[in-house]
Amino acid sequence: MRKFNVAVVGATGAVGEELFRVMDAYDFPVENIVPLASARSAGSSIEYKGKEYTVLELTETCFEENNVEIAFFSAGGSISEKFAQYAVKAGAVVIDNTSHFRMQDNVPLVIPEVNPEDIASWKETGIIANPNCSTIQMVLSLKPLDELYGIKRVDVSTYQAVSGAGKAGMEELVTQMQDFFAFKLNDSAKEAFAHQIALNVIPQIDVQQPNDFTKEEMKMVNETQKIMHKEIQVAATCVRVPVLRSHSESITVTFEDGVDVDVAEVRSSLERFENVEVIDDLANNAYPMPIISTDTDITYCGRIRKDIYASNVVHYFNVADQVRVGAATNSVRIALKWIEMEQCD
Ligand code: A2P
Repeated sequence: MRKFNVAVVGATGAVGEELFRVMDAYDFPVENIVPLASARSAGSSIEYKGKEYTVLELTETCFEENNVEIAFFSAGGSISEKFAQYAVKAGAVVIDNTSHFRMQDNVPLVIPEVNPEDIASWKETGIIANPNCSTIQMVLSLKPLDELYGIKRVDVSTYQAVSGAGKAGMEELVTQMQDFFAFKLNDSAKEAFAHQIALNVIPQIDVQQPNDFTKEEMKMVNETQKIMHKEIQVAATCVRVPVLRSHSESITVTFEDGVDVDVAEVRSSLERFENVEVIDDLANNAYPMPIISTDTDITYCGRIRKDIYASNVVHYFNVADQVRVGAATNSVRIALKWIEMEQCD
């Protein structure tokens, strides 16, 4: 198999560091690694498969100078907005983990298990967008259910880990917990989130939109429809919780009129879907939780139950490591699919 020069923009961040672990686990065909970050961390090093690589400063010319062929971007939307074009000009495919290009019509938005065929249009811009983390784990479970009965509407509440706010988010939760035990919580810094996150839940992720939903909530609406190629109605409530890693989601799915949900069928369709697993044994206290999903590439579903009033409605709980399934792993899976498709061309 041909090997590639791979750049990681945001190599020192939470998702960037995980990308190296996932590439290693998937035995990604790497010729050379080009870790890129801000001038602050240029000169530091990262390790990949026992070899040290020096972190370089992200510049307009760094992609061309290093013959980059695949560029993972995970350093925030404004960095992608400014620098993705230079990677594309250098001939690389950009796999962008930020929201910047996601809803652009000519940019494919891809979950490889759900809509791999959309990767084919990557040549229009040179960019493939990785969906929002909460969207990815939800849609991984919606796809088999839509194939089973046809989905009309989804109501979802999320319980999102602080790692969604990067390393700064995780550090803030840990520091606030330490300060709590030292009786100093009132003086603890509250910068990554609008409020104290330790011992709290915050029903706001990202900024308010004109319709009073937040930007995170509207990402779940718009991205779900784009990936599924279907006008599914989605209402989301996104909540930050004091969990370090792995997002949880309480999901209610309304199927087409006339559907009579069979929970056994729902369970087996989820079980059969790639990279989805069911843990659902309430009598024995078995269900998905962040401590089960963290550091895995699986989206777990459980607590599956039919609505007690409407026969076309099912409820379930969905948990995944959003740094992996919702970011690094999805990006690496996109890149592997892209390689497979390009080699067939
Ligand atoms: P740096 O470590 O140099 O600040 P996280 O999501 O965990 O907060 O990580 C953000 C990532 O984005 C880090 O790797 C960070 O690098 C990188 N980054 C932030 N600002 C820039 C920038 N202006 N140019 C390049 N990389 C940046």
